[in-house]
Amino acid sequence: MVFTTDQDDGSWSIVSQVRQSSPVDTTAPYSTTSLSGKTILITGGASGFGAAFARHWASFGSHIFIGDVNDSLGLALVAELRTAYPTQTFHHHHCDVTSWTDQLSLFKFAVANSPTGGIEGVVAAAGVVDMDNSFDSPRRNGSKTENSEPEEPRLKVLEVNLTGVAYTVHLAMFYLPRNGTGRDRHILLVSSIAGIAPLPGQTEYTASKHGVMGLFRALRGTSWTRGVRVNCVNPYFVDTPLLPASGIALLAGAPKAELGDVVDAGTRLMADEGIRGRALVVGPKMRVVEGEDGVTRLVAEAPTSPGGEGERVQAVWEVYAEDFERVESFVWRYIGMMNVMKSLAGWVGVVRDLWGIYVLGKKAR
Ligand SMILES: NC(=O)c1ccc[n+]([C@@H]2O[C@H](COP(=O)([O-])OP(=O)(O)OC[C@H]3O[C@@H](n4cnc5c(N)ncnc54)[C@H](O)[C@@H]3O)[C@@H](O)[C@H]2O)c1
Repeated sequence: MVFTTDQDDGSWSIVSQVRQSSPVDTTAPYSTTSLSGKTILITGGASGFGAAFARHWASFGSHIFIGDVNDSLGLALVAELRTAYPTQTFHHHHCDVTSWTDQLSLFKFAVANSPTGGIEGVVAAAGVVDMDNSFDSPRRNGSKTENSEPEEPRLKVLEVNLTGVAYTVHLAMFYLPRNGTGRDRHILLVSSIAGIAPLPGQTEYTASKHGVMGLFRALRGTSWTRGVRVNCVNPYFVDTPLLPASGIALLAGAPKAELGDVVDAGTRLMADEGIRGRALVVGPKMRVVEGEDGVTRLVAEAPTSPGGEGERVQAVWEVYAEDFERVESFVWRYIGMMNVMKSLAGWVGVVRDLWGIYVLGKKAR
């Protein structure tokens, strides 16, 4: 690997090596024409974000395959889309994302029934919350005065939001590269504001969404080798069936993000085939004021119009953009040193040396 750019602080940029695209201008217009004729598989596509993506992308000519546990909603959505766009292909396939065999069956079904003979886009949108989750809840993990046995924790949120996404990504990395030359290959992950900041009281959900970010941040460094681009949306709270009424009530009066802005961010990432390795936070709409002093100020109100000169309304922002812009010198030198050692001694030699240092050295001490 050749490293091209060194920075003032001694770190290194490997952005071009991992094919990460330039920062996304979320205020610029984008074309949706590439969505026409694409086959897109959406887990959790029966409701909320997934269903909104399906409706919007179908209106631009996409074929949609939904995998969801909610068969009644999934089948109703497919019937609606078939009526509205009779020349396109829409299917619901029962799929519990925590089941490997269900997901394998979903992907096989989509490939077998895709008008394009393959899959161009995969969205991992299935997700759950557990407001009474096991780590934090005295009800589920005993109060301090109780002397009872600990309960086995419920880990459903991790199973759906992280293991389920891992299965989806694994299958997407298998099937997308088999979709023929010249086709787009895109994985859109759905993390959350909880993938960036902790949500106290929602430890398991926060862990699951940080896990999705870890998956995204590492995978985008290598997926280009298979021609696959990986992007992510991180929405703030949006009023969908995911959040129970009690959760929505806690937010009463506080600004929320809007479903339309999540759909807009996801559509930009799905439609613009030049965007690779970027994550977009979707928050409440804010007024952005470019001051004459050159300072940009955010005004947290719910504006309905862009306001005056030098002002705009924005809900979508980039996040986790710099992983590859400033790779620590230590990491770079360490990897370089390992490469040199490998070329001199081969991996067998490296492993033998490490064995000597850690195991035999330990015995000698
Ligand atoms: N609504 C929000 O405030 C918000 C904010 C940030 C991130 N998210 C994330 O967005 C994604 C979509 O959530 P939403 O708000 O659209 O919620 P939603 O409840 O409307 O949609 C989630 C869908 O996932 C499906 N699902 C649940 N468990 C499943 C399983 N085991 N297998 C297959 N499908 C399953 C549900 O049936 C549903 O159709 C989730 O990953 C969620 O964590 C939501």
